[in-house]
Formats: sequence, structure tokens, C-alpha cells
Amino acid sequence: MAKKIPEWFRNAVFYEIYPQSFRDSNGDGIGDLAGIVEKLDYVKSLGVDGIWLNPCFDSPFQDAGYDVRDYFKVAPRYGANDDLKRLIGEVHKRGMRLLLDLVPGHTSIEHPWFKAAVSRDKTPYDDYYVFTDGKVRDLDGYPFITGYGERDGFYMINYFYSQPALNYGFSDPKPEHSWQFATSDPRLKPLREEIRQVMKFYLDMGCDGFRVDLAFSLVKGRSGRDEALKELWQDYSAWMKTNYPDAILVAEGGRPDLADECGFDSDFLMPWGGTKYALANKATFRAEEYEPHTDRLKAESPRSFFSRDSSGNSRDFMDELEELLAYDGGTARFSIITGNHDEVRLRRQRNVDEIKVALACIFTLPGRPFLYYGDEIGMKYLPQVGNIEGSYWRGGSRSPMQWEKGEKAGFSAADPAKFYIMLDPDLERPCVAEQENDPDSLLNFTRNLISLRHDHPALGAEGKLRRLVSEHADSPLVYERELDGERFIVAVNPAAKARKFEIQLAGTPEKLVGVGDVVVEPRDGKLRIAISGVSAGVFRLHDREEETL
Ligand code: GLC
Ligand code: CA
Repeated sequence: MAKKIPEWFRNAVFYEIYPQSFRDSNGDGIGDLAGIVEKLDYVKSLGVDGIWLNPCFDSPFQDAGYDVRDYFKVAPRYGANDDLKRLIGEVHKRGMRLLLDLVPGHTSIEHPWFKAAVSRDKTPYDDYYVFTDGKVRDLDGYPFITGYGERDGFYMINYFYSQPALNYGFSDPKPEHSWQFATSDPRLKPLREEIRQVMKFYLDMGCDGFRVDLAFSLVKGRSGRDEALKELWQDYSAWMKTNYPDAILVAEGGRPDLADECGFDSDFLMPWGGTKYALANKATFRAEEYEPHTDRLKAESPRSFFSRDSSGNSRDFMDELEELLAYDGGTARFSIITGNHDEVRLRRQRNVDEIKVALACIFTLPGRPFLYYGDEIGMKYLPQVGNIEGSYWRGGSRSPMQWEKGEKAGFSAADPAKFYIMLDPDLERPCVAEQENDPDSLLNFTRNLISLRHDHPALGAEGKLRRLVSEHADSPLVYERELDGERFIVAVNPAAKARKFEIQLAGTPEKLVGVGDVVVEPRDGKLRIAISGVSAGVFRLHDREEETL
């Protein structure tokens, strides 16, 4: 779909902030919006163009705020609506953008719509959710909860029992299931409009768009669901583009092809599978990292490409990227993530150099990458965190940002025992202050990569990607990026084993950023590459020898 890309988004890099864990301004042990404002100069210093803020709306926090109780109100623990307005203003003042997290697929069980719908009375909200009429035996394979509230029926859920699915209808309603409304059913209109009003409310406040939670969960059904999702999302996105042409929508969908047709500006390549594109990101995580999750995922996940004992597979990863790029004409409507609040952090089982190798690759591939807070300093995954506000194993990736040395890490003035979530107990834990002035730190390495990406659009969102070396397992990955006559090659070897090879490519290389040891030499119109274990390099390719000094 030929959509206009807002100029600011063209080569954008984002930073994900998990508000409860970034910076606590008032000493209650929970991060807040005023705390984020305090740290905006730092965020700006990373070179990012935008921030994605996880949900900051009123909620009982049974799923860390992905269970919204009031869409129009900032959760008091984070501040008031005016604080959000102020945050948006301060972000804009620094030339950055702010995406909020829109959770349109479900509400909290404490949302007044659900409280009304689950009551004994007939209310205007009864069809906002998917309720069976009394007890039924056949639930058509969908997840339902029974025995909650006064209404005699089961309600469908999207995630936890506390997240009842909002009702956007079914693409393939079956007559024997009266609870399966067609997506065109007029009874569904009011809810659709409510969600539009939520978007309008925050766009009018000044936010620059949304990351859309479980974007493809809205319409239910097995056949014809993509078409129904397109109809729904095209309506929202066209409305948004008409009224707020600079705003964007990023799907949490894991299907960039569908997201593109829905009118999203980008979609995350998610590691949780279910689509042919999921492998792309699975390649960035090691199978063992799924241990705290389930054995099922462990069994399904191929080994990560980014591992020292690399049996990982960069070929499938590149196949999929190329397929995506061919699909959207090279506009790269996808976002590769360094991690997020649902994933195990990169730092698990990787040392700093190994992370640098992964970041050198992630930040020189097409699309609009998202950096997860703390990944730029190598924060650890903490398996001992346990379940905080519905995190379960995900809590390990949600610990407080480490600003300084010392027992509170500069996160909060509260006693660390009162932090809402555990801080990394290791007093040698990485922190911003320590890395700030060290030119070799992970923090400054990340900054260099982001600024390189901005200085040379060939390395960014829309530069052409050409694969030079990528094999099924145990091999470095080498690719060329090119745009408007500027050429770069990137060589990445996460494995411990050193490698040497030759590629058919002319030019004189100039090294811009690197980790470990990579040498690229021109010889007889070819390039000779010698790459040590755990190494990566980004080189500019000059056509004539004189250009390099
Ligand atoms: C998304 C969120 C996740 C949440 C779930 C349910 O996957 O990223 O944190 O638990 O949706 O809203
Ligand atoms: Ca606070």
C-alpha cells in the first residue's frame, strides 16, 4: 500500500520506556512521568527520534497496565493528565516524538464497561464484550471465563482472566454460536467509535501516534480474518492520517505484510512465532533464553544467530528480511527490537562484546529499530524477580533503570526494599554514569551506531540491503547497504571461531565502527575479509582508492 511516510519517521530510531521502571521522581518506589521528564536529555543524547511509552493509564495493574480501567486518565501513580501533557511538550521541545500504547483489544475487569456488562442488568455495554448466553458446552475453541459476576454467561478473554476481549466481531460467524457477531453487525459500532475517541483524546493532547497492543487480536475468526482486520484498521488509520497526518501507528502484530495493508506504518518482528516472519527475530535470541518461559517455546525456538557457540541461522533470517523488503518495495515497514518488556534481555548469557556484535547488526539493518531501555548499558535479565503485577518470567526484563552506582542506582530516593520491583542486586551492575565518559562503553557504542545510521541513510531504514555471506549455521553474516551512491558493508561474526573469506565486490573499505577484530582488504577487484570470533565491523566502501585517507 502506497502510504506517505511522515518525514520524521523516515529514518527513525525509537527508545522504549517502561514508565514504572525508568525514574521515580517522588520517592514512592515507582517510576513516573515527571521522572521521565528528568531524564529526557539523556534519552535525547542517545540520538533516538522517538519514545514508545508502555501503558500509563489508570489500571488495577493485573498485567502491568495492559489492563486499562480508564482510557482517559493517567494512572495516579504516574501522575495526572497534565503531567502527560507536559511530558509530550518536553519531548517535542527536544525534537523527539512520543508514541503511547493503545490497548484496544481488551480492558480490565474493573473497567466500568465491563462492570456494567457483567452485571445482571441490561446495559448499553452488554455487547462491548463477547458473552455467551448462559452456560454453553461448545465454545468453538476460544478462551472463556465462567463464574465471574452476575451475568449468566461466559466471557471471552484476550490474555489473562482479568482482560476480557472487546468485541469487534468475527470474520466467520457461525449461526450456532449466537455470541459470534459478524464484524458488520451494527451492535459493534459504538465500541469502535469509543476507541476512536481514545485515539483522538491523546492525539489532541499532542502525542505522535500509538504502538498498538496485540493489533491483530481485535477481530476473531479463522477464515477471512485478515480481510476483516484490514477493513477495521484501514478505517482507523485513514481517519488518523486525514486528521493527524504526522501521526503513526506501529502494530504489535508480527506480520508486517498484513500490518502494511491495514495502514500501519510499521510492525514489530516478534519472536513469538505463528507467522513465517517470526523467525527473523527468533534468530536474535538464544533458545536457552526461553527457559524461564515454557519448554514449548524452547523446543520451537531455533538457536540464536547471536551466540558464541553460534549454531544459529542467519540465512533464514535474511531470506525473510528480503521477502519483506520485496513485498513493501523496500520501504521497510517493520521494526526490529533489541528486546522489550515481554522478552528476555540481550544481556542474558552474553557479555558486552557479544551484545555489541548483536547491536552492530540490528542498527545497520533496514526498518525502524526499537531500543529497549537499559539494553544500551547491558542491563541483565533477572530470573529471580518473579511475578510482579502479572509479569511472571517477564519481570526479569523490567527491573529499574540503572543510572548511577550505589544502592539505589539513582532510580528512586526510596529504600530499595520498597522499590515496586527488584533492582539488580549486583553492586557491579552496569550504569549510565560509569559508561557516560568511557568511549568504549556499550552506551557510547550504541550512540555511535545510532548516529552513523542517521548520518548515512544507506545504513538506515530504506537503504538497499544486499546479502553477501549468510549460511545456514556457524557462519558470519556479511551484507551491503546502499543508497544514493553511498555504499557500506557490515560484517558480523557472533561465533567464537575466526573466519576468512573473499567476496566479489570492488571498493576501498574505511572502517567506521567495530568490535573485536575485522580486517577487510581489497585485492584484485575482490574484498578479503578476516574476522575474529565475536567481532563486527561497519565499513564505508569508496569507489576509488584516493577517497580514503
Ligand atoms: C502485549 C503486551 C504484553 C501484554 C499483552 C496483553 O503482548 O506487550 O505485555 O501482557 O499484550 O495486553
Ligand atoms: Ca513515583
